[in-house]
Amino acid sequence: MVENGQNKLMRASKCIYVFFLTMLLSACNHGIPPQTDLEMDKQRPFTKEDPASISLMKPTTPLPQKPLRDFPYLRGINIGNALEAPEPGSWGVTIREEYFDEINKAGFNSVRLPVRFSAHIGSAPKYKIEADFLKLIDNNIQVALSNNLIIILDVHHFTELMENPEKEKEKFLSIWRQLSEHYQYAPPQLFFDLLNEPEKSLDSKRWNEMVSEVIPIIRMTNPTRKIIVGGVDYSTINSLELLQLPADDNLIAAFHFYSPFEFTHQGADWVQGSDLWQNTTWTGTTAEKEIIQKDLDLALSWSIQNNIPVVMSEFGVIKKADNLSRLRWIQYLTQEASRRDIGWVYWDFCAEFGIYNCESQTWDRELLSALLSNQQLE
Ligand code: GLC
Repeated sequence: MVENGQNKLMRASKCIYVFFLTMLLSACNHGIPPQTDLEMDKQRPFTKEDPASISLMKPTTPLPQKPLRDFPYLRGINIGNALEAPEPGSWGVTIREEYFDEINKAGFNSVRLPVRFSAHIGSAPKYKIEADFLKLIDNNIQVALSNNLIIILDVHHFTELMENPEKEKEKFLSIWRQLSEHYQYAPPQLFFDLLNEPEKSLDSKRWNEMVSEVIPIIRMTNPTRKIIVGGVDYSTINSLELLQLPADDNLIAAFHFYSPFEFTHQGADWVQGSDLWQNTTWTGTTAEKEIIQKDLDLALSWSIQNNIPVVMSEFGVIKKADNLSRLRWIQYLTQEASRRDIGWVYWDFCAEFGIYNCESQTWDRELLSALLSNQQLE
């Protein structure tokens, strides 16, 4: 890869940033046994791409390092309001094969595919996923892969499970048992995302138990597939702290970021009272930027301390918000995520938060460049 000066500068500032954060964290981690050089080499950030960081990191021998796993930096987009609608297409987005080509050509390397599997299963005890529906999902996965995109298959809007976790648990396990068997030979660019935004009665105790049951089921047929797991309370950053994941080198923790909520969700018709938030702007004041930095620092610290990569698998601003504010927020957030080596997946493609117009088949070029400028490119 040929690097330009700006890229080099960004990488250097990222290294310095991670170095100082690591130093800060070390203050709270004196009890951690020293690591061998070999162990450090495995975990050290940036070694693949940026040898300069090695000399910067060297003096910090006994410190926990940011995990370095075989995990690509995600620059992705959620194809929302399509297959997680009660019926495919009923929320106005019908996925066309060309979209994947458009997404790849625009510079993304991944898509997240939210799917409402729970609306397409038969009765107990098998809860068989409808064959036609599964074919539709297969087709989307195949087209994404053939367009060189990582595809994250996400079990979305399983509302019954949130309301009644004990009663619905078997359904959840059965959905993943079937998906695991069905996709066991798919290439590693297919990732699984266990459940979108656990909430309500699916509290952290119940969710951690469910995670510990479902992962071994998936691992029976997919020993090394990447599995993404979000925390409870709509997968906010704070919920990472409550997440208990089994030891497994192919897990990725996820968080969603919509803060300030009054800005990103102004006028959202699914959020009660959000009409009152119309005209909320985001001008990028020091205070506004600090909130984002602190939140992302929390995610990064969690990642370092737990040695688990994190990804921001949803974030976005509704189209009703003022355009300049949208641009600023999106650019600042992705820039700060990138500085911390946190990959991201924008919500959404061409629905309420969209940056693409599915009718005219055109991108909002300004938003696209706000997202993709300053990003790590391999
Ligand atoms: C969550 C919801 C989705 C919503 C988005 C933004 O992912 O599941 O329906 O559009 O957040 O609010």
